[in-house]
Order: sequence, then structure tokens, then C-alpha cells
Amino acid sequence: MKLSVIGAGYVGLTTAACLAQVGHDVFCSESDAEKLSKLQNGVMPLFEPHLEDVIESVRKVGRLRFGPTEEAIAWGEAIFICVGTPPLPNGDADLSAIEGVARAIAKRASGYRLVIEKSTVPVQTGGQLQKHLSVHSKNGLSYDVASNPEFLREGSSVEDFLHPDRIVIGVDSPRAEDLLRQIYEPIIQQKFTCPIHLDCPKRREPIFLATDTNSAELIKHASNSFLAMKISFINMVANLCEAVGADVAEVAKGMGLDPRIGPAFLNPGIGFGGFCFPKDVQAFIRIAEKSGCDFSLLKEVEKINQNRVGRFIEKLRAELWVLRGKKVAVWGLAFKPNTDDVRFAPSITLVKSLLEEGAIVSAYDPEAMEKARIEIPSINYCADPYQAAQGAEAILIVTEWDEFLHLDWHRLGMAVERSLILDGRNMLDASEIKSHGFHYFSVGRPPVLPAQSVCAASEVASLVDAERRS
Ligand code: UGA
Repeated sequence: MKLSVIGAGYVGLTTAACLAQVGHDVFCSESDAEKLSKLQNGVMPLFEPHLEDVIESVRKVGRLRFGPTEEAIAWGEAIFICVGTPPLPNGDADLSAIEGVARAIAKRASGYRLVIEKSTVPVQTGGQLQKHLSVHSKNGLSYDVASNPEFLREGSSVEDFLHPDRIVIGVDSPRAEDLLRQIYEPIIQQKFTCPIHLDCPKRREPIFLATDTNSAELIKHASNSFLAMKISFINMVANLCEAVGADVAEVAKGMGLDPRIGPAFLNPGIGFGGFCFPKDVQAFIRIAEKSGCDFSLLKEVEKINQNRVGRFIEKLRAELWVLRGKKVAVWGLAFKPNTDDVRFAPSITLVKSLLEEGAIVSAYDPEAMEKARIEIPSINYCADPYQAAQGAEAILIVTEWDEFLHLDWHRLGMAVERSLILDGRNMLDASEIKSHGFHYFSVGRPPVLPAQSVCAASEVASLVDAERRS
């Protein structure tokens, strides 16, 4: 099918590339001239695993092209809107880019178009789209509007698009439903050449759920808010574990064994970030408010998340006392591994607070330093974790990159000024770290101190004992 995708952010690019991969002829547009020119010249504007390879291979066989919005509108019978919906200062989603696209379609398109909102939008946006298409339509346009929320995680968006658990569509006409079914048929059947796994095992077919437009729109915000709630819940359990000397990893394991709860999204840490959860929770609170519902539960979710970085810094202060003039290494800047995205990343809040307190920050991230530099220019960006750790009084782990699991801890022990690690993602093996003489603090688990400290404590005990006996 001839399909158009408007907006080449990570959602639009993944959508365009994967739809081309499963056999469609796709035209993807981008309004940012610099980004468009990069894409037309085969340069990726963002880092997303596998995406570059998929784009390269589908472009080679002519199934994906990049160009301006007008051409995308003229190209496809179905048009996916994948433009940004950033948060406004009051928490509402800014829908001006969506409105702009709707106007452009209304003005330029003729004949039939299926207009599909893939951007995350508040409930009832579909209705507004319908209205605008009809008000501004110039050339006898006939159309359907559908919602098709995406459930792509940054860092595994290609995998998520091609092997989803569910495909949700919100439609108000059988024609729209049929078209969307045709578009997704190769994915529903799991019949395409998988670009990720050479011998891709046959996967379970995803559930294709068709609802009305309002419900589909709500499914997206409700899903993200629920996941965010799970994270804030386990983060509070972690606080409690720290207070009573329990281990949150054990608690999460025990909870997750109940299939009604499930083990996913029960990893405590320095808080959720990225361009989805923080803004979607905020937007969902506003959507509820506007409809007369006080979703106070989500306000708590937000509040708990906002306190994560502060709590982490308190732990650091408890160890280092005064931060002014102390060198601190920050490992990981991306809001999560396998992405270069630092939007709403806890690392940014953390580094800014450290700088405010006068600490000297050296940071390392395998992918996100270029983007972080724009937000926090005045820190030392390092070539590797060892360089960042040189002379540091503490190493702070903020993103759980795999790379941090395979380091030479002896070398690190020699590099640091003080052997102290605060692991904001509970990613390291505490006993290994301990064996290298590091003091290891994580989230919701008892601190692990090196053998010498334990020895010193037992030495003190035996001295006290000896004194008592004499
Ligand atoms: C999220 C959803 O998972 C996707 O389904 C959705 O499509 C996407 O938002 C979106 O709306 O576009 P994403 O933001 O890429 O995807 O990242 P997640 O993997 O969900 O992680 C979000 C944040 O939660 C990260 O900062 C991560 O570190 C944190 N997190 C996640 C935890 O702190 N603990 C966990 O147990 C899981």
C-alpha cells in the first residue's frame, strides 16, 4: 500500500521504516530542513538500535523516501501523523503541530484519505481532527480519522513495532478498520523478513484490538500512566525497605510472581524520565481535571518521581558531607540505556543540582553526551567510565548501560580518590564491587561495605570484648 508518515522523530521514523520493511511503499516527511536533508543523505538524526540498517535496506529497494510534507500528503491513501505533542507549561499537550498537519491535509489533499493519529494525544483529539478537516477542506476531500496509539519503547522501537503484543486502533467506520487491518496484516500474521533476528523464531500473533476513537486515545495515556504508577509504587517500597532494612529486589521478585502484578516495571531507581512518562502522566492529570475528575493518584505518582533525584543526592551528602569542590563521576546521561535521548532524564536534574552545590562533575555516556552537552555544557565530558572516575570521590550510576557491567574494577579502584559507588539503577553485582574494596550504595537495598570495613568492625568488636574480659 502507498502510505505516508508525517514527522520523522523516533516514532515517525520507526513507523515509516517498519511499514516499508513489511512491504508497503512509504513516504516520510519532516518539516525541519536540516533533519530532512540528513535523512535524504542517509545520515541518521537519532540513535535507535537497528533503525539505521532497516532504513538503509528499505531505501535501497525504493520502498522508503523522505521529502516535504506536501509530497507526503499527496502520496498515501493513509497518512500517519507522528508529529510532536510537547507539554505546555500548564501540563496540557501542545497540539499545534497536529493542527497544522490537519490544515495542510485539508487544503492539499483530494479524494479519500485515512488520517491516522499516532502521536500521543488527549482523548477527543480525533473529534477535533474531523472538525478541522471538514472546515478547511478545499478540494472535495473525503476522509476517515483513526487513532492508532504507539507502544514503542525507545531503544527497542523496531522490535516493538514488528513484534508487538497488541495493535490498538480506534475507528468510527468499517472502511477505516479494513484499511488499518490491511496495513498491519503482515505484522498481525508475523509474515515479513525480520531485520533484527536472522533466524527470527515464529512469534505469537499480536492481538488486534479495534475500539472507538476516544477509547483508543485513552488506552495510550492510561497505559503509560499505569506503568509510571508501578515505578513510583516500587520506588516508595524501596524507601520503606531502606527504612526497615529489607531488600527491594526480593520484595519486587515476590510481588512479581503474582501474575496479576507481573515482574515488569518493578525496578526501583532514580526515577522515570524520557519524553513519554513525565509528560503523559502530566497530560493525563490535566485531561481528567478538565473532565471533572480529580486523578489525585497520578499527582502522587508525579510527586514521588520528582523526589527521586533529591533522595539520591541526600545519600551522596550523607557520605561526602560537603559537596562543594568535590569531584563526582556521573555514569550514564540518557534517560535509559540504548538511546541517546536525555529529555526529562533524571541525569539532567541530578547534574544541575550537583553543580548548584559546587561539585565538579565528570560524566560519561556511550551515546547521549552530544545531546546532554546542549542542556549541561559546563561539565567535563569523558571518553570512557575510567576517565570520568579519575580522582572522583564518588561514582554515581544513573543509566544502566551494559558497558558498566564489564569494567576493570581494579583499574577503577586505582583511578578514584575514594571507593564509593551510588548505583541509581541497582545494576551492579554488590559482592563483586565489594571484593574490589568499594563501598556500594544502591536503591532499597542495604549498603554493601568492603571486606576491610567488615574486618575493622569485627576487630573493634574483639577489642571491646578483650577489654571487657580484662
Ligand atoms: C514508554 C512506554 O514503555 C512505551 O510503551 C510507550 O510507547 C512510550 O513510553 C511512548 O509513550 O512513546 P519509553 O519512554 O521509551 O517507553 O521507556 P520505558 O522503557 O518505558 O522507560 C521509561 C522510564 O521508566 C525510564 O526512565 C526507565 O529508566 C524508567 N523505568 C522503567 C524504571 O525506573 N523502572 C522500571 O521498572 C522500568
